[in-house]
Formats: sequence, structure tokens, C-alpha cells
Amino acid sequence: MWGLFFLLLVSGSVQGAAPNAAGIASAHPLATEAGREVIEAGGNAFDAAVAVSAALAVVEPYSSSLGGGGFWLLQRASDGRQVMLDGRERAPLAAHRDLYLDEAGEVVPGRSIDGALAAGIPGEPAALVHLAEHYGRLPLSRSLAPAIRLARDGFPVDRHYRRMAEWRLDALRSSPAAAGQFLHDWEIPAEGELIRQPDLASTLQLLADKGRDGFYAGELAQRLVKGVRDAGGIWSLQDLQQYQVVEREPIRGRYGELKIISAAPPSSGGVVLVTMLNILEGFQIDNLPRVQRVHLMIEAMRRAYRDRADYLGDPDFVDMPLQALTHPWYAAGLARDIQLERATPSTPQPVSKATEGADTTHFSIIDREGNRVAATLSINYPFGAAFVPAGTGVLLNDEMDDFSARPGVPNVYGLVGGEANAIGPGKRMLSSMSPTFVESDAGVAMLGTPGGSRIISMVLLAILELADGQPIAQWVRQPRFHHQYLPDRVEYEAGAFDDKTVTELQSMGHILHRLEREYGNMQALYWDRRSGQVTGASDPRGSGRTVIW
Ligand code: DON
Repeated sequence: MWGLFFLLLVSGSVQGAAPNAAGIASAHPLATEAGREVIEAGGNAFDAAVAVSAALAVVEPYSSSLGGGGFWLLQRASDGRQVMLDGRERAPLAAHRDLYLDEAGEVVPGRSIDGALAAGIPGEPAALVHLAEHYGRLPLSRSLAPAIRLARDGFPVDRHYRRMAEWRLDALRSSPAAAGQFLHDWEIPAEGELIRQPDLASTLQLLADKGRDGFYAGELAQRLVKGVRDAGGIWSLQDLQQYQVVEREPIRGRYGELKIISAAPPSSGGVVLVTMLNILEGFQIDNLPRVQRVHLMIEAMRRAYRDRADYLGDPDFVDMPLQALTHPWYAAGLARDIQLERATPSTPQPVSKATEGADTTHFSIIDREGNRVAATLSINYPFGAAFVPAGTGVLLNDEMDDFSARPGVPNVYGLVGGEANAIGPGKRMLSSMSPTFVESDAGVAMLGTPGGSRIISMVLLAILELADGQPIAQWVRQPRFHHQYLPDRVEYEAGAFDDKTVTELQSMGHILHRLEREYGNMQALYWDRRSGQVTGASDPRGSGRTVIW
């Protein structure tokens, strides 16, 4: 009897057993609707995750695709199982560490970003099949139905679509199949015009009918490989056949009363996040004046991002001291050289060319049984590699740029890396995507965002707002700032710091860089365990939609 009581106490099951509503927060209203439709048809949160992922691949082609990958963090209510589905792209087997270098050993600009050679082997189709078969309740034919409809009948172009297409116009024009799918007569379609994707509808139908083999074998696989090779890429049928989703144990940490559950390698997200929180916990930042608090947050970011470059990569290829990196004692060591009044300079490196991305996508889902999903999906750059193999409708990623093309040379997000993230055949490239759960006796949050290297600091800022008891709208809305060790500067959105804070941070030695544009597109849900209530918020910077019903 006492044993059972103790068990209930440590497992936390004494709280409210289930939410009194279901909720979905995604970056596109049509994707949120697709998820709701599937839950109403008797599906659970995992079926809805299939529906939302597939719909996003149709209506947000600049953010994610069947030709891309992602991480789906899951909690199954029936047994409390928490797992991260790793559907990250892999380097083709013919890839090698110098793939993007010229004869002089210099990185060739654009080669890991535009066109067929930039594409890793997609993981999203395999992940959707895995989700449906192992966690869902409905057949793929049902959970993929909304996406198939959207691909066949079309969705209307909005301002954001036009902006992203403008950004990638030249690259899109160099792939006839991509231009045919996403442009009208080689031009950016006007707002309100419909994007119909009949080839993508057929590919989704194949996935619904044949599961994994619909994509990774047979005629579609042959078309994918032929299209890639004809355009100078290096995929083989064996690459597609060998692709496997991996179930990984999430990274876990604590911040006061809060339990953090986040993405494991090959994402750096969970490790960097937990390191930052561990450093901050040592300083008890709650009671500090704002400028002191910001200073310590910057210093925590600086140190955790430095470790990212030094240690992290694909766990199937690289030994990583994960337990040490996420341990409070290790953070205490990192914190030892933090000065309370002075910025620590990062070791100088060539100036990077970090860009501000608004692509990649996150969604959060909870159903009335308490099953939950936080998923971040990507094709990397807007419209990925901007390349579609003819007759497939599948827009390919340029996730190969997330590898370190050469030690010390920054990628599009200004991130540098070393040996651990060097290109290798079949290897997964290091990511920053950080789908995260935050749990306490009071409730459970599900959150994440796009934003390249800034993803992890955005999730940190949101967790600190949660810890401060701020409402969910504030987690996603707050003006943001970021430091990633290199370049050695604090990037911030308008409104993040008042004039006094700017002056004081500068006098401590911080180099401040105010961004022209806002960044991120966070989608968050919260289940209050005591009342059963579910709340949610979509980042006002994007055009996402949250529904709770
Ligand atoms: O996996 C990663 O870390 C990147 N490919 C994510 C890219 C991203 O978030 C772009 N969005 N702004």
C-alpha cells in the first residue's frame, strides 16, 4: 500500500490524469485544421502529428517537406513513455568530408545550399509511417487525407509565401520541376493564387497506400535518385533503402521545480538548453536586476554554444560526454570564469555570415488522453535546396549545410563546428531543433520554434518566462536576444532592451547588434494539471494558429 503510494508520488501521477480539452498550435491555420480533423475522426495526438506534419509539407513548402526531416518528441499517456523520434536526414553514402571544398580546400559558396548536391536523405516520410504504425490509432490513408486534399486542390499564396519565394527565386528557377510547382510562369504567384501540387498528392497517396516502401523503394525511389543524379547529386537507391528512423532517449534536465525534456543528439538542442539552465540555476537569477540577469543569460549562452561546436554530432558516429555536459557540476565549472560585471570575450574567429531564417517549422499537440507531441521539422533554408526531382513533387532539403563543411568555417547560421560534425557517409548532421516539454506538479508545457542557431536560446527565454509565472502569450511574444559564442555579439530584436540596459551591457564589454527583423515562430501549449485546462499561443511574428477544443 505504502509502496504504491510512493510510486504514485514519484511518478507524478497524483496530478490530474488528463486534460479537459485537446489543443494544437502550428505555424499554418490549414495544418492546425488538418490535425483537428484527424482527432475528430477518432485519432490521437500522434495521428494528428502525422496529419499536421504532412499538411505543413504541403502548405509551408519553404519550411518543411517530405524531402526533409525533423524531430518528434512524444509522450504516450497510457504508459508515460517519452521518446524522441529522430527523422533527421542522413548524408548520402557517397558523401565525404571534403564534399563542398574546391581543389584549394576552400568551401565553394552555395554548393551545400542550392540544388541536388545539397540534399540529405529525407527522414520525414519514414518518421510519419513510424508514428502512425507505432503510436497512432488510424491508418495513414486517414491521417494523410487532409494533406492529400490540400496538395491536389491547392492552397492560397500569402505574403509570407511570396517573401520566401522572392528570397529563393533564382534557385527555384534553376530547377524546372520546382519552378513548375511553386512559381506561376516562372514568376512569384500573386497573393490568393492557388498552389496545386498534383505530383506531391500522388506521392502522399503512395505513402498512404504502401507505407515506407511507397517512398523509399519502387518507382518513386527511382525517380528521386534519377532526378538527383541527373542534376549533379550523389544519391543511390541504397541510400533510400537504408534510411531508418531512430527512437532516442530525450535529454533531461531540471531548473528548480521544472523538469526539462528536450531533443537529443543529433540535435544539440537539449544539451545546450540544459547546460544554459544549469549555469543560470547556480546564480539564482530570479531576484537579480534585469541587466544582471541578461548579462548572465548571455554568458550562459556563450559557454553552452561553445561546447556545441566542440563536442556534438551524430550519436551513431561520435562519442559524446552527454551525462557530463548536462550535469550541474559541469555547469558549475563552466560558470567559474563568469564575471558578474564583465563580458568574457569569445576567442576571435573570421566574421561569419549568419542569416535570419524564418523557415523550418514547429507544432505542439495534446489530446484529451494526455498524449502529447512537440515536433520541429525542417528542410533548412527557405524552400530547402529549391530542387524537386521531376515527377515526384518532393522538394528536397539542403540540410547538408548543417554539417561543418570545414572545421572553423561558419555555416549559414554562422555556426562553426569541428570534427564531431564533419561530413561522413550515412551520418546525420548536427541540428539546433529543440522540441521541448517542461513539466512540474502544476502543469506541462510543449514548445519549440524555427530559427536556426537561435532556436535554442529562444526556447531558453520561453522557459525562463514560464519559470517566472508569465502567461503563455508572453513566452512566444517577448522580444528576444541571442548569443552563440561566435560571432562574439549579442543579437537582439527591437524592444528586447531599453536604452539603459543597452548602455550598461556595452559598458560590461558586450558587443550589441540590433536586428532589422524579428525572428522565430514559436508554437506553445500548456496543460494546467490542477484545473485540467489547456491553453496555447502561436507566435505573433508568424501566421500560425492555435485551437483548443
Ligand atoms: O536543424 C537545424 O538546426 C536547422 N536546419 C534549422 C533551420 C532553421 O531553423 C531555419 N529557420 N529559421
